[in-house]
Amino acid sequence: MAVECAWFWTTPMKTLDCDFLVMGSGIAGLMSAIHLSKYGKVLVATKKERAESNTNYAQGGIACVVAEGDSLNEHIKDTIGAGAGLCNEESVRIVVEGGPDRISELEELGIIFSPHSDAPAKDYDLGKEGGHSHRRVLHIGDITGREVERVLLERIVSDPNISLREQCMIIDLVTTGWLNLPGPNRSVGAYALDSASGEVIAIRARHSILASGGGGKVYLYTSNPDIATGDGVAIAWRAGLPIKNMELIQFHPTCLYHPEAKSFLISEAVRGEGGVLVNDAGESFTEKHDPRGSLAPRDIVARACDREMKVSGAPCVYLDITNKSADFLRKRFPNIYEKCLGFGIDMAKDPIPVVPAAHYFCGGIEAGTDGATALPGLSAVGEVACTGLHGANRLASNSLLEAVVCSYLAAERIGASDRISVSEIEIPAWGTGEARISDEGVVVEHNWNEVRSCMWDYVGIVRTTRRLERALRRIKILKNEMREYYVNYYITPDILELRNIVAVGELIIRSALMRKESRGLHYILDYPDRNPDKTAAETIIRDEPGGDSEQ
Ligand code: SIN
Repeated sequence: MAVECAWFWTTPMKTLDCDFLVMGSGIAGLMSAIHLSKYGKVLVATKKERAESNTNYAQGGIACVVAEGDSLNEHIKDTIGAGAGLCNEESVRIVVEGGPDRISELEELGIIFSPHSDAPAKDYDLGKEGGHSHRRVLHIGDITGREVERVLLERIVSDPNISLREQCMIIDLVTTGWLNLPGPNRSVGAYALDSASGEVIAIRARHSILASGGGGKVYLYTSNPDIATGDGVAIAWRAGLPIKNMELIQFHPTCLYHPEAKSFLISEAVRGEGGVLVNDAGESFTEKHDPRGSLAPRDIVARACDREMKVSGAPCVYLDITNKSADFLRKRFPNIYEKCLGFGIDMAKDPIPVVPAAHYFCGGIEAGTDGATALPGLSAVGEVACTGLHGANRLASNSLLEAVVCSYLAAERIGASDRISVSEIEIPAWGTGEARISDEGVVVEHNWNEVRSCMWDYVGIVRTTRRLERALRRIKILKNEMREYYVNYYITPDILELRNIVAVGELIIRSALMRKESRGLHYILDYPDRNPDKTAAETIIRDEPGGDSEQ
């Protein structure tokens, strides 16, 4: 079943109807909504305020071949090179080749990428990041995501076919299988918690699109904002969808290390402009691990930082870009410059203290580049989906590119094919059974911290089988406690998020135990080498709804 709760059947409940339910308001969700509005009424459900998404915090930009001297083949080669033998080459080709048209579309929507200061129009100031053989990252200073969100939200609110609902947290999908309806199983909508009123509502939709991003909050230290709790992956898993390569968690090497700097990223573009990682003695160390040094792919650089800190016992390493002038840095990285200055770090004079932190899910719901999943009526786009583009390690700034290309392809496929009507399907009211108001917030808080510490300590950048097994035992205990809690108390956003991070934690650990090799982002001391057999390299977890996924 897709939904598990303290159930009883009651009279009809508040039900919203739409053609397309989009879950998430980052770039993948907003672009899906914009494209789908040509084909019907779209409801965008977002669990907090509309702009609160991973996209909003993206600093680097969008990787795309727009410059003379660069080529699609080289972008494809760099993506596959970073992906450590696990990319789906067809997915890579589709996404990279689809990029230039989507960039033009973003510009038509009103996004203005930073131009090269003294160049003719349409000559972009392109950033460089780890693993790219060319400068090819289109950006808007260092606030690319914030600008993209602003422009797309403006477009959304002016579209009469799109409505956006804030504080609307999806609980679980509703499927015909769970409703015991005849015919093949398909998604017909979802239950959602209106966190402003505390009411559970049903949303009926002929097609639903999960675009809810990743889940860095599963880890104690992350570059992600608080909303990133892996909701989409957990929801899909509970509905019985295959979840792929979840052990492949990308750790970003350079998050600001400061007691008050929660989740603040120092963009890889800083290294692209000449920043070098050094230890507390001021020595550059990344060349010991890869000749590309600080601009090697992220898995290598994050491991190098982790090793340097473990060997020296220092709590952080440093990113030194003092070779650039304050003028240049203020202009190219206005947001990072100001933020650092606020913490007493003048990046033109002082090396910036940094640590690696969980940043991006390269795995997720198994999906095509057109968003198709194993469940009819459900698509997945953006970070929540695993299309095979990123392989075992995502090339920097390929994620916004994937989101724009795949949301377009998904909408074209859905608009052309999915005409089924679900308006006659009755979704039963959400029942509260014997549930009561929780007076045990401390338990939720404690378990939240416990999951995140457990994941950080035992399932981090360098893993061992023993630590993974220990983590799995812990997470199973937390899962049982969570289940009890979920059934006995009225649900709240905190309970739902905890339920989701526990689920995602379990998926990551189980996947990590399945991969008996080191590859890309998964480095395990018991199996330090890469398995040369490529066909052995996917990890897929598919539990029956109501089976292991149930909590
Ligand atoms: C960054 O600016 O370093 C992040 C870009 C990305 O994760 O692709």
